[in-house]
Amino acid sequence: MKFTVVTILPELIEPSLVAGVVGRAREAGTIVVETINPRDFTTDRHRSVDDTPYGGGPGMVMKPEPLIAAIAAAGLNGASPVPPEEIPHRILLTPAGKPLTQARVRELVKRPHLVLVCGRYEGIDERVIEEAIDEELSIGDYVLSGGELGALVVIDAVARLVPGVLGEATSIDEESHSAGLLEYPQYTRPQKLGTREVPSVLMSGNHAAIAAWRRQQAIERTARRRPDLFARFVPTKADRKLVAPLSTRTHVALVHHPVVDRTGKVVTTSVTNFDIHDLARSTLTYGLAAYHIVTPVTSQREKAEHIASLWLDPASQEQAARKPPVSGSRAGALALVRTADSIETVLAEITAEYGRPPLVVATSARGESFPDAARRTPIELVAEATLEPAPLLILLGTGWGLADALIPSVSRVLAPIEGGSDWNHLSVRSAAAVIFDRLFGRVPGP
Ligand code: 6GU
Repeated sequence: MKFTVVTILPELIEPSLVAGVVGRAREAGTIVVETINPRDFTTDRHRSVDDTPYGGGPGMVMKPEPLIAAIAAAGLNGASPVPPEEIPHRILLTPAGKPLTQARVRELVKRPHLVLVCGRYEGIDERVIEEAIDEELSIGDYVLSGGELGALVVIDAVARLVPGVLGEATSIDEESHSAGLLEYPQYTRPQKLGTREVPSVLMSGNHAAIAAWRRQQAIERTARRRPDLFARFVPTKADRKLVAPLSTRTHVALVHHPVVDRTGKVVTTSVTNFDIHDLARSTLTYGLAAYHIVTPVTSQREKAEHIASLWLDPASQEQAARKPPVSGSRAGALALVRTADSIETVLAEITAEYGRPPLVVATSARGESFPDAARRTPIELVAEATLEPAPLLILLGTGWGLADALIPSVSRVLAPIEGGSDWNHLSVRSAAAVIFDRLFGRVPGP
């Protein structure tokens, strides 16, 4: 596999490629790296590669002609054009490119020849990109003074996937990043380093236990450090035993009291048919443990139970209550509906069920509600709660929202949903669906 780096600073490239995996691969001839300097393609006396920007502004812009000529030279084999299967893939390294990912690296390694074009100064003339670049890549959300370090990163990441560059064993760790999890922690001798000991399971000789521990560590690390990756991670059945998904111990309570009306007065709202059905279906869709309808009015609880029961015979309701939700049936969703006379009763029920009290998170359309609770983004809440054994209780207020002063159990509050207009009146079931999706929804991704 061949890499050509187009750069006005070739001395930045060469010294980084003489040692380690890449150095050995070059020695063995498995990969070839060459540099081409646009300065060698200048025609003026000063050999200038940059000029002032049209439209004004600070800095200099790389001139198009030397760059285009240098890139074209990379695609030549001596004086003649290369055959079609050897046509190089031309990449510009720029902070404005698409972020490089391992998935992209796996694609790039299929190309026989990569031309890595390094910008310098404030940028390059846009017509170079239109004329002579196939793809723009960035290596992260920060700004480097040139593309050379990016080119080295691409060479390293791609070269180690070229067949024959790495031994067999390491191809497996490749797989594990592909699976969307961070690596588990590694240890070697000595067994005791000061007071720090190697986890005993690694010395047990029990290969199944070691594999399970490593997998659990990888999942927990990913949740803690990379909630963005964690949101895309699809756990296997075995994974669910190692780290129980937060959704399966998340309860949601639709609170009809204490809530406020439009004047801020504490009131009790009525249960509604729509809320019962729609929230039950969302509860099941996102795999939550249960949905509690909270009202102190006995006849309202009876009404809620009656509406729920219309969709279900008692036997299947009982069965669904014992089992985690699996089916997509509406009847299954409604079996998860429970009623309670107060938030305190819900807390007591959940505490009895799990042997510990839940972490209670409020939702509010008003940013100033629950001033004593810690604000959390959905991503922060999931990362925090996933790693704790406690169940999670999400409180949803009806009417004009939860009466915050009367609900001291709330320790976390989610930021209000903002639609970007100045009218903000989602129905509680719409807000619930948005919140569930932010917390538990699978993010489609590469
Ligand atoms: Cl590839 N080049 C430059 N100049 N800055 C960057 C980058 C590349 N990736 C992130 N920042």
